[in-house]
Amino acid sequence: MTDKQILTLIENEDERQKIKLQLIPSENWTSKSVRDAVGSVLMHKYSEGSALNRYYEGNDIVDQIETLCIKRARKVFEVPDNWGINVQALAGSNANIAVYNALLRPGDKILSMYLPDGGHLSHGWSWPDMGLSGEKSKRVYKGTKKAISLVAKFYDIVQYKVNKESKLFDYDEIERIAKKEKPKLIISGGTAYPREIDYERLGKIAKSVGAYYLADIAHEAGLVAGRVCKNPAGIADVVTMTTHKTLRGPRGAIILSKKSLAKAVDRSVFPGIQGGPFDNNIAGIAVCLKEAMSKEFRRYAEQTVRNAQKLASELSKLGFDILTGGTDKHLILVDLRNKDLKIGTKGNTSSGRYIARALDHAGMTTNKNTVPFETGSAVDPSGIRIGTPTVTTRGMKENEMAMIAGWINQVVEVAKKYSSLEFEEFDKQISMDKEITKIRDLVKTLCANFTLE
Ligand SMILES: Cc1ncc(COP(=O)(O)O)c(C=O)c1O
Repeated sequence: MTDKQILTLIENEDERQKIKLQLIPSENWTSKSVRDAVGSVLMHKYSEGSALNRYYEGNDIVDQIETLCIKRARKVFEVPDNWGINVQALAGSNANIAVYNALLRPGDKILSMYLPDGGHLSHGWSWPDMGLSGEKSKRVYKGTKKAISLVAKFYDIVQYKVNKESKLFDYDEIERIAKKEKPKLIISGGTAYPREIDYERLGKIAKSVGAYYLADIAHEAGLVAGRVCKNPAGIADVVTMTTHKTLRGPRGAIILSKKSLAKAVDRSVFPGIQGGPFDNNIAGIAVCLKEAMSKEFRRYAEQTVRNAQKLASELSKLGFDILTGGTDKHLILVDLRNKDLKIGTKGNTSSGRYIARALDHAGMTTNKNTVPFETGSAVDPSGIRIGTPTVTTRGMKENEMAMIAGWINQVVEVAKKYSSLEFEEFDKQISMDKEITKIRDLVKTLCANFTLE
């Protein structure tokens, strides 16, 4: 039986990804080999346990796949021989939860990055959160409705923010908070922090207060693999990453942990928080790791960063406020407040939702995002986040980034015409605007010159 309805929807999505510029930093376009592995018969198999130590029969082939995947991860991420590698966590959030479950007890304190400054939900988030431990977070732990992520219900979350002027991490301040709060775990890594992180310094801070240090490199895993970003393996106690962002693999995660913690991490993934792993995804991860060993992938990683830097500098020239003035990675965060768009009938300044929608109508898919010292909210934030992993996979370079920056600027100018409308009306009007339609056609033509296989 062919399910025409779903098949058509998949074809439509394939078309959408191809005719628009996918500029969401956490997305990418995988190779056909990765997609073949993920769509294979491996999805039928149950293989609870670990390679050569399973609870089900018939796993001799799956054992070889998982072993190969781990071997490749060791090579790609230069993981010390005595460190453990787990490739079974189903996603980045699960990998982080598995680490907490392995290292902490409920109620233990975690020091992580403040979500509106670019942290991640799986590092603990409650609302409203003052960013510091106190009465509020205690109440959260006791199970009030304020805990947004499960992690905030189970653990006492303390968070550090970026510096008000530089928007960079202030390591002295993190050290001060760590000394005062004495967390059991310190986490670095975020969804919208465009700069390299000082893993050595955070490792030292963690050690000085007797905490574990988890470096979450979900976003930059591919840039670490391509040797353009620093590698925390061997420095942090545990490293988690997703495989579906810059690493250009299927959805999944990898956990690297030092020898003394490796067994606890494995047991935490299974039987701690998961059942059977997705063997098809593990095969896909193995394929993407092989691809990541190639010279072509290194060139890709370098170009991804160069493209993001070019986009940042072109947008800066056009008067956009780029957080931290640029990027070391694949992503940039744009604070739109200086564009002075008066949004909706209340005329507020948090225009991220409006601009992200306008850009999508113009063929450029980004996402609305909170910015440090946010004055809006998560649903109506003041910024947008833009990333270059997918457009770089398409083969685009600096010239195309300059074109994209110009189009983004045009879209923001057009949006000003409609910004006093309520969102639904804004959405409708801007989707029909002649200038927007023209940009959408130009984007389509550009995309046709940079095909995706
Ligand atoms: C820093 C960080 N950690 C963890 C995750 C969670 O990944 P997943 O969506 O696979 O659960 C993300 C996803 O964006 C992330 O940015």
